[in-house]
Amino acid sequence: MAINAGHLKNVIAMKVLTTAKEVKEHYRVCVLRYPGFVPTMGALHEGHMSLVKKAVDNCRMAAVSIFVNPTQFNDPDDLAKYPRTLEADLQMLSGYLRENDFVFTPSVEEIYPEPDTRQFDFGNLDKVMEGLHRPGHFNGVAQVVSRLFDIIRPSCAFFGQKDFQQLTIIRELARQHYPKLEIIACPILREPDGLAMSSRNRRLLAQHRDRAGEIYRTLIASGAMISDYEITEIKEFVADRINMIPDFRLEYFEIVEEKTLSPVRAVIEMSPDKKYFACIALRAGEIRLIDNIEVELR
Ligand code: PAJ
Repeated sequence: MAINAGHLKNVIAMKVLTTAKEVKEHYRVCVLRYPGFVPTMGALHEGHMSLVKKAVDNCRMAAVSIFVNPTQFNDPDDLAKYPRTLEADLQMLSGYLRENDFVFTPSVEEIYPEPDTRQFDFGNLDKVMEGLHRPGHFNGVAQVVSRLFDIIRPSCAFFGQKDFQQLTIIRELARQHYPKLEIIACPILREPDGLAMSSRNRRLLAQHRDRAGEIYRTLIASGAMISDYEITEIKEFVADRINMIPDFRLEYFEIVEEKTLSPVRAVIEMSPDKKYFACIALRAGEIRLIDNIEVELR
């Protein structure tokens, strides 16, 4: 691995573990366990690092996993093309992690010694938005996250609001199966033009990247329309504005209630006591992007 001299000391101190057995042994040797945990699929960026920083700041021990989970990809091409940048990822992490912290980079065989046939029941939470457009995706996420929780045995785990529906489903997974585990939500980090940071952004063509700030601006504009427009009108506005950008295609836009993820059909249904999020998924060329913002009734 090419390491620049400034990082050398940290890289040497940083533990990179690849098996459940090594994790167990690490806990035994450093007489610490139950870390703060940040699961990732790698291709790390500042958004991921904000979660890592929070884990390091709040927990005596932090663990970060890097594992591109095949069971959550419904499109084999997407899985094949998912960016894998392990060396750069480790280098980035080495600037943050402390002596007892560790990175977990298991193989597919380590996580799935045999095919995982578990089916999770999340009620309606995975029947909307990403769940509708990516069949089986959240079952795959639950499979890998529960497997990682079983190996790492964290006291708390950090998830980004960027993947808003995933966060809600992980909370439900924890409620059902890991009642002592604290799930900590972290805000979305954005590029200067508003584009939510994502590992997929690096695959955007230059002309698509140039226009991608429009996604966030459209979300903000949609939020400002609540109170004065009906949901169908807001949806039309969003579809027009996104589909107007060459090669951009809207997949869905929904305003949903935070806890149930039920799509709001009419503004009159909205309650001042609840929180609502405008969620969007679209394709910019071949690349699928998602984003969301909280919207408020005024
Ligand atoms: P991945 O897309 O690598 O994201 C790892 C974590 O980083 C998630 O909790 C995600 O919400 C958070 N994240 C990504 N971009 C962010 C941004 N711009 N600001 C703040 N947080 C951000 O999500 C996954 O991996 C996988 O589904 C996983 C949970 C690891 C299971 O395989």
